[in-house]
Amino acid sequence: MRGDGTPFAFTCPSPRRYQHQWSWDSCFHAVAWSHIDPERGRKELRTLMRAGRPDGFVPHTAFWQASPRWRRAPLYATASYRGDTATESIQTPLLPVAWERVGGATATDLAFLEAHARWLIRERDPDRDGLITILLPDESGLDDSPKYDAVYGRLAHWKPGYARLVQRCRRANWSAAALCAATDEHVEDVLVNTAHALSLRALARLTGNPEWDAHAARTEHALVDKCWDEQRGLFFDLAGRAEDPVKLSTWSSLAPLALIGIPREIRERLANEHLLHPRRYLARFGVPSVSMEEPSFRPGFNAYRTWRGAAWMNTNWLMVGGLRALGADDEADTLAQGALDAVQRSGFREYYHPRTGAGHGEQRFGFATLALDLPAGFRAAGAGVARTA
Ligand code: GLC
Repeated sequence: MRGDGTPFAFTCPSPRRYQHQWSWDSCFHAVAWSHIDPERGRKELRTLMRAGRPDGFVPHTAFWQASPRWRRAPLYATASYRGDTATESIQTPLLPVAWERVGGATATDLAFLEAHARWLIRERDPDRDGLITILLPDESGLDDSPKYDAVYGRLAHWKPGYARLVQRCRRANWSAAALCAATDEHVEDVLVNTAHALSLRALARLTGNPEWDAHAARTEHALVDKCWDEQRGLFFDLAGRAEDPVKLSTWSSLAPLALIGIPREIRERLANEHLLHPRRYLARFGVPSVSMEEPSFRPGFNAYRTWRGAAWMNTNWLMVGGLRALGADDEADTLAQGALDAVQRSGFREYYHPRTGAGHGEQRFGFATLALDLPAGFRAAGAGVARTA
């Protein structure tokens, strides 16, 4: 129970460093709980929704038991410096995907999920092209990815200027419309939009409301139309007012592999030319977050510069699901086994060296338990998409 009497129940991403509730972590935790204790998964998701607002906003981070001042308080993307119970920023949206896995959503839960989808579309797609926008690099969850270096420059997540970026968002009242009209530090991110489309598809299945399928199709279409680079065979984020493609090969360039609505030829190219290519993404212990061919590929430990090459369990999870949806079960099994071997070798870690399986960052890290879902789980979700497509 929080001081004001609001009940909560969630799994901390790591008991030492990450004591708050993070949006996408909770969705991943719920997927893992669906294998052991679905009711705990439902509690975790309802806690996350309770941290949101009636208009459907869901925060990136919610502060329940621990003070927001704990550790890097000034850098949290809150409305002010004191008394906030959550950030004003968002994180890659996956709530309906997680709800579909734990099951048992009530009419109240579904009404909130629909409000949440409407909020994202209304507030985060100011140019109405079907792609939602992130204002801060960490809104994708890929905080320090090299793909954001050129876009954010001195305002990047791992630079001192990040505090200025947060301050600018505060002054603009976190209005994406205002910030997108006046500045260039914002991104239509491929991973975020892949998760958005996956969520809209899941929402259509959960509610039976075809409106959500139409929204998902619009996002999938926009990804192909605006982000797909036919020559490179990769999807690229679009940055700033000019929507400049960010031509770096990172795991998010492959993310649409998980979307059944994307043409099969495109998904095959992503798999054959990149994911299963030994010099690019095919590593023994999981899918690297940056192509091994990129000069910025740094898979080792760096506490302040994450997502620059290491394999995380969610990189494996999304790609295993994408391969299964393509019918490439043998390749999916090999990839899943590599990730499970990394867990066997190093435990549930924040991230892993994709070539050695060495564990880095936090220990007993929550979403590494997505490993539980690798053998079969996402296959079911993929099959569900195929049935209604
Ligand atoms: C790190 C990760 C982010 C995650 C958070 C909590 O900041 O980059 O993706 O949500 O930790 O685990």
